[in-house]
Amino acid sequence: MQEKIIVTGGCGYIGSHTVITLINHNYEVVILDDLSNSNVQILDRIEKITGVRPHFEQVDLKSSEATQAVFKTHKDAKAVIHFAAHKAVAESIQNPLMYYQNNLFSLINTLKAQQDNGINHLIFSSSATVYGNPSTMPITEDAPTQRSFSPYGNTKKIAEEILEDFTNSQSEISVISLRYFNPIGAHESGQIGEFPTGIPNNLMPYITQTAAGVREKLMVFGNDYPTKDGTPIRDYIHVVDLADAHLKALQRLLDPSSTQPLEVFNLGTGKGYSVLEMIKAFEAVSGSPLNYEITERRPGDVPEMFASTALAKQVLNWEATRGLQEMIQSSWTWEQNLRNEL
Ligand code: UFG
Repeated sequence: MQEKIIVTGGCGYIGSHTVITLINHNYEVVILDDLSNSNVQILDRIEKITGVRPHFEQVDLKSSEATQAVFKTHKDAKAVIHFAAHKAVAESIQNPLMYYQNNLFSLINTLKAQQDNGINHLIFSSSATVYGNPSTMPITEDAPTQRSFSPYGNTKKIAEEILEDFTNSQSEISVISLRYFNPIGAHESGQIGEFPTGIPNNLMPYITQTAAGVREKLMVFGNDYPTKDGTPIRDYIHVVDLADAHLKALQRLLDPSSTQPLEVFNLGTGKGYSVLEMIKAFEAVSGSPLNYEITERRPGDVPEMFASTALAKQVLNWEATRGLQEMIQSSWTWEQNLRNEL
């Protein structure tokens, strides 16, 4: 008997890769997505890759009625993986209420609907942004969380606090919160990947769009940080490694011998690369120079972030296996495929 898993935001970037991993491990997947930042055609691609079309419900999780109704229909689900959220830092600074309303209402409605329907396990998409500007590297899970620079980041910090209070309240529900570092890369099929709407906020899609001629040049936001070459260092992680980590977290939650109400894990590789190193690595993969220019710092950027991976390795038996070259190559292949299609 297949176990049914509800995946909110399953049409999005990390969600769709995780759906593929779940299907490949014989779970029955129900995707809930409002399609506000994704396309329903992703279902065709998931079907092409896995041979299985996941069940899909278009639903706005900001509505408690709609959330209750859809969870009631799928009350036989064993767990929820909650990806659904807005994630654009700059947009969240422009429109904080939209971010607090969407990201927090959807979490609260999901928890309430889980409670009312006896679905007792949740995996939450958190972010390394909850560490703010950490003082020691690598970052361990017990490092203090800090108020984020952006409302987006703050929704992740507040969400973790909600989960802490909720799991302390003797609720039946157990939770794993996964703090992602910098997800990049795409599925090896070249069929799915990141597809940012408008101008990309993040480095990797900006690089690939510049190389594809969609953007004129990459702006490197500052080279006067206290790092080896002056540009900020991040821990980039392959999205398929992230998807594998969700599978491990799910297996742990569903294991009757694990009794922790709330656990938190970093998902990174433990290795940091600067912006200039990323550009060089991309040029080596694509075989062409990238047009870029050093400009002013971007407000809110911190000099250095990379994960301690020890806890995820020890408890989840998970570690990232895909290196930088593979991450960049898959991002570039996906971008080229996308441009050929558009
Ligand atoms: N960068 C550029 N030019 C760009 C885009 C990014 O130089 O056009 C630089 C940034 O300054 C930063 C690095 O590339 O040094 C990585 O930037 P990203 O935007 O790709 O990633 P961030 O680490 O800033 O963002 C990540 C997550 C967010 C999260 C944020 C907060 O993607 O979800 O961390 O720490 F909110």
